[in-house]
Amino acid sequence: MSEIIAEHTVLSDADQRWLKLLVSEWQLLADLSFSDLVLWVADRDENVFWAVAQIRPNTGPTALVDDVVGDLIAYSPEHLVAGAFNTGQITQTSAAKLQAGMPVNTHAVPVKLAERVIAVVEQQTSQLGVQAPSSLESAYSDTGALLARMVTVGAFPMPADSSSLAFSPRVGDGFIRVDSHGDVQYASPNAVSAYRRLGLIGDLVDEHLPSLTATLAPTGPGPVDDSVLSVLGGRIARRTEVVSGDAHLTVRVLPLLDGRERVGSIVLCRDVSDLRSKERQLVTKDATIREIHHRVKNNLQTVAALLRMQARRMESPEAKVALNDAMSRVASIAIVHETLSQAFDESVEFDRVADGLLRMVGDVSATSGSVSAVRRGTFGVVSADMATGLSMVVTELCQNAVEHGLADATGEVLVVPSRHDGRLRVEINDDGRGLPSGFDWRQSRSLGLSIVNTLIEEMEGNFSIGARPDTRGTRAVFEIPV
Ligand SMILES: Nc1ncnc2c1ncn2[C@@H]1O[C@H](COP(=O)(O)OP(=O)(O)OP(=O)(O)O)[C@@H](O)[C@H]1O
Ligand SMILES: [Mg+2]
Repeated sequence: MSEIIAEHTVLSDADQRWLKLLVSEWQLLADLSFSDLVLWVADRDENVFWAVAQIRPNTGPTALVDDVVGDLIAYSPEHLVAGAFNTGQITQTSAAKLQAGMPVNTHAVPVKLAERVIAVVEQQTSQLGVQAPSSLESAYSDTGALLARMVTVGAFPMPADSSSLAFSPRVGDGFIRVDSHGDVQYASPNAVSAYRRLGLIGDLVDEHLPSLTATLAPTGPGPVDDSVLSVLGGRIARRTEVVSGDAHLTVRVLPLLDGRERVGSIVLCRDVSDLRSKERQLVTKDATIREIHHRVKNNLQTVAALLRMQARRMESPEAKVALNDAMSRVASIAIVHETLSQAFDESVEFDRVADGLLRMVGDVSATSGSVSAVRRGTFGVVSADMATGLSMVVTELCQNAVEHGLADATGEVLVVPSRHDGRLRVEINDDGRGLPSGFDWRQSRSLGLSIVNTLIEEMEGNFSIGARPDTRGTRAVFEIPV
């Protein structure tokens, strides 16, 4: 739309904004008038028009099977579209014309902004089954005709009203026509059902809608101008949500004008109770999961603190080391739960966890010397159930690098994660003294590497450890599918 307008027309920015607003709102006109709508803008050349937008009705059959956007038509001045553009009046065909075997009535509605015609909406209405319109159909098309007249005087669309259109109720969700006093003239069956949900007994017709709604859903202490009464009063275009117990109704109100005179309003409403209750459940479920992770983290930290206290009381150095190891294993799991208690879903941005672990490894080694643990690359997002295992593996391998490789107390542990083809590969490098000669980790009976191996097998990955090819030190590598 913007492209065609910029290339072929002399429309100003304000005109374009108005047409965009129109196009974002005109489903209402299409639905109420059971019509296909095409928006035509004038070329710089006289009587040449471009189709820039098109929409089909949700309420009835389409009269326009083809897509016409981008079409160019040179009209004679007597043609409907050119006529409407030149006169500023709605023009229409005298009799239904056959189009793809279907009788179709066409109107051309000039779009006015600040007393100028800036475009024309062509309205094609299928005439199938119009011999005996139901009360719903005549209520819709009467209102549709009024809306079309509002377009010609620049009263529709309504600029104040264009927020969050995606959630806005549609004609088919529930349609109520209200007169200028607020009394209901017509309510579609869906609208009546929606009000039944609020607690309505009986019918809507002839009820005073603002006071009826206020009785069904007494407002809380919200801001005054948002109260049901003022919104449903229908003086300005507004939307609101009416709540009564578990029932939620989103309501959109549009004032109807005939010329300058206010003749009532359209109220569209939609029962969103199920949606709201699902949202609530999701929110509480999410909050509960996070709370549980938070408590698990607290408990693990308590366990880690207990182990540290016991390690301090130990006389035997070997027992001290063992308890300290256990402590840091527990603490590394706690870090994962800490991250999960903040994350919103069931996956973890693992870099945050890894950085927490590396800091911890660095802290532990700080007692003996200066070792820094660095990450180069990113782990990406990892599912929550993998995060614990992965963090244990990283911790064990980093601790080995610090405790064995860099026992002389200086050096660097370099952690390099990378991702390809759905697999996560992680290297843990140190520039220390290297593995003992003749060391075969598969034969090793010690706990650390057994934990690593078991966890990686559980994750269906593979692991190896050996001398670093490029420089001195050790490299442990594992790869797991993620
Ligand atoms: N980065 C490394 N540099 C040098 N030697 C290493 C390295 N990683 C592991 N080793 C050797 O492998 C052995 C086995 O490691 P493993 O983690 O299984 O046990 P551990 O560290 O001795 O005890 P723990 O159960 O407390 O981890 C170590 O004792 C060490 O000799
Ligand atoms: Mg170890």
